[in-house]
Amino acid sequence: QNLLIWDLWLPLVINFCLSIFVYCMTVRLIPKLTDKFLKANLFGIDVNKKSRNKVPEAFGVVVGCIYLLALFFFIPVPFGRTFISDDNFPHHEFVELIAAMLSICCMLLLGFADDVLDLAWRYKLLFPSVASLPILMVYFVNFNSTIIMVPLPARAWLGAASVNLGMFYYLYMLLTTVFCTNAINILAGVNGLEAGQALVIACSVTVFNFIELAGPLYKTHQFSLYLMLPFIAATAALLKHNWYPSKVFVGDTFCYFAGMTFAAVGILGHFSKTMMLFFVPQIFNFVYSVPQLFHFVPCPRHRMPRLNKAGLLEASRFQVSTQNMPFLSRFILKVFSLFGLIDRQDESKMAQVNNMTLINLILIWCGPMREDKLTMALLLVQVSCSCIAFMIRYPLASYFYDV
Ligand code: UD1
Ligand code: MG
Repeated sequence: QNLLIWDLWLPLVINFCLSIFVYCMTVRLIPKLTDKFLKANLFGIDVNKKSRNKVPEAFGVVVGCIYLLALFFFIPVPFGRTFISDDNFPHHEFVELIAAMLSICCMLLLGFADDVLDLAWRYKLLFPSVASLPILMVYFVNFNSTIIMVPLPARAWLGAASVNLGMFYYLYMLLTTVFCTNAINILAGVNGLEAGQALVIACSVTVFNFIELAGPLYKTHQFSLYLMLPFIAATAALLKHNWYPSKVFVGDTFCYFAGMTFAAVGILGHFSKTMMLFFVPQIFNFVYSVPQLFHFVPCPRHRMPRLNKAGLLEASRFQVSTQNMPFLSRFILKVFSLFGLIDRQDESKMAQVNNMTLINLILIWCGPMREDKLTMALLLVQVSCSCIAFMIRYPLASYFYDV
């Protein structure tokens, strides 16, 4: 009983108190720094406002620094009892926490470099791969478990209950990190969306971790909570200033920082597949964006919605020549329009098609709306998907696995 309070709940309570401190500090610090960011030319134009104000950008760096600072102070807490008593020091748990922070710190730095230098796409893929190496190394040293359970319906077909993916499992984890970091960044462009979606995902992960605290793998979920609670606090503070009308922009720094935090807890907490369930809107947005990302159809620099004369947001569009269009592009547009996924307006030799993002898709399905309504709608989608994720993870999982 005593052990349970000392080992399980006390570090979490301290972490929670630290998170409240993180929230209060971040909320106060952000407005104090806006002028400094403007002076340093770190700003973006809020394109969907009539005033087109300069809004200080890359506040992810402030949030990330406070977050890391809080975690630095937290390091001794989970290991306090082993300092006092002479128990065996849990080196493997210690190195996990340090490696997760190293990867997050590295991603924060690289994300800030992206905001300042506006890097090309190839670096956006390379950076997270590099930054994920510390967590992958620790995974290798601590677990090196590359076996996955085969879902029940596929077992008869495969003839095995589990398969060892070996190197491919590491490739999968690497791709997960690259995906997590970029997926939030490409579902962006309306006030409050980046921070909002990160907050919803973090809250979902936290609920999942709390449920799993009662299970046999409580240690890894406790570890995840150490990283998630301060993250929620920092992100909530950022969202307060980033919500419509935005007083600050989060920048790519925040998207990368958030993505790496999720990847780190997913990988080191052994629930990367459940984590992916919370990323369903981002996965959809990525798959939907593939034709533009891989340039099968044109992809403008910005794909966020645009302001119409009535002051509402409507889907932004790209132009494509309908003459001598490659077969693949023609085919993709056909299939997408068959499923009502694009709104295409044909002119003589040109077609105007909406940019393929979930944001624009909602606008073509529901009609133009105000920016804050749009963000709310997108966050509602995110919350609904999390609810479905819990249904898949709990009641439905028994159809696929022995749980
Ligand atoms: C990604 C998207 C791009 C989208 C952009 C918006 C892809 C491939 N890239 O690019 O389509 O337009 O994010 O963030 O999908 N901004 C606003 N309001 C907001 C948030 C951002 O007007 O609420 C504008 C500001 O001018 C800001 C800029 O977007 O400066 C930030 O864009 P940036 O993060 O540099 O774009 P990418 O991440 O490269
Ligand atoms: Mg961005």
